[in-house]
Amino acid sequence: MSGESRVGTGAPRGKVTAPAVVALKRKGEPIVVVTAYDFPTARYADEAGVEILLVGDSLGTVVLGYESTLPVTMDDMLHHVKAVTRAKPAAMVVADMPFMSYQVSTAQAVANAGRMIQEGGADAIKLEGGARVAEAVERIVEAGIPVMGHLGLTPQSVLAFGGYKVQARGEADQERLTADARTLERAGCFSIVLEGIPARLGATVSRELQIPTIGIGAGVQCDGQVLVTHDLLGLYQGHKPKFVRRYAELGEATRDAFARFLADVKRRAFPSDAESY
Ligand code: KIV
Repeated sequence: MSGESRVGTGAPRGKVTAPAVVALKRKGEPIVVVTAYDFPTARYADEAGVEILLVGDSLGTVVLGYESTLPVTMDDMLHHVKAVTRAKPAAMVVADMPFMSYQVSTAQAVANAGRMIQEGGADAIKLEGGARVAEAVERIVEAGIPVMGHLGLTPQSVLAFGGYKVQARGEADQERLTADARTLERAGCFSIVLEGIPARLGATVSRELQIPTIGIGAGVQCDGQVLVTHDLLGLYQGHKPKFVRRYAELGEATRDAFARFLADVKRRAFPSDAESY
């Protein structure tokens, strides 16, 4: 990324890279991340100037209709990563590694991370976990692939957590999470998502690391913020966590548009002469 920030101006900008994202932290400029799963959303978010498009495995819940992210496969992810990268965004495209695509072995993790880059055209990958994924992170980074970590309320561990609950409320868990964050930084991550943790812990971890933290339900002191686009746009009808701020009500607008089309067709008010050949 070159020159001064052009966030939100719609002005042309250079490709956002992992070192450029780290440089934003050094400059004290908050990093903006949204999820994208398709070509038009990638275009709109890129035109708005966001720095990172995350093709999250939240795909499973907000687009594919699953109750969790656990059923999402590599094929599902690649299908949507390709749609996003076809938009040729200046924003960095981070592809989320789905459940069971990196847990079996380090070799499996490197191979699947490579598919996200080679087949999907992604610029980086994201995976969940701390010390237990450190070796995989090291090998993926050695292969030349930037890695974003993910700590706290990691949705792929929903069964182990017993639900989507705020994590690391107690002192021991907070120390473990901080140690995991340091381990991921040492392993070579260029940034770490912190999800569903107390704001004070988000601030502490952000202060301790040289690499940026990207918060979601982790307080305002994180180095950047991410929201799931379907939450941000009011397109998701499921549970609305406390940390979600809606910037549009596109779900209601969409239902209203369909209802008006239906009414027009039923009363033969569509198409008009001007809309006919
Ligand atoms: O899958 C996803 O969208 C994510 C974000 C919530 C960080 O992991």
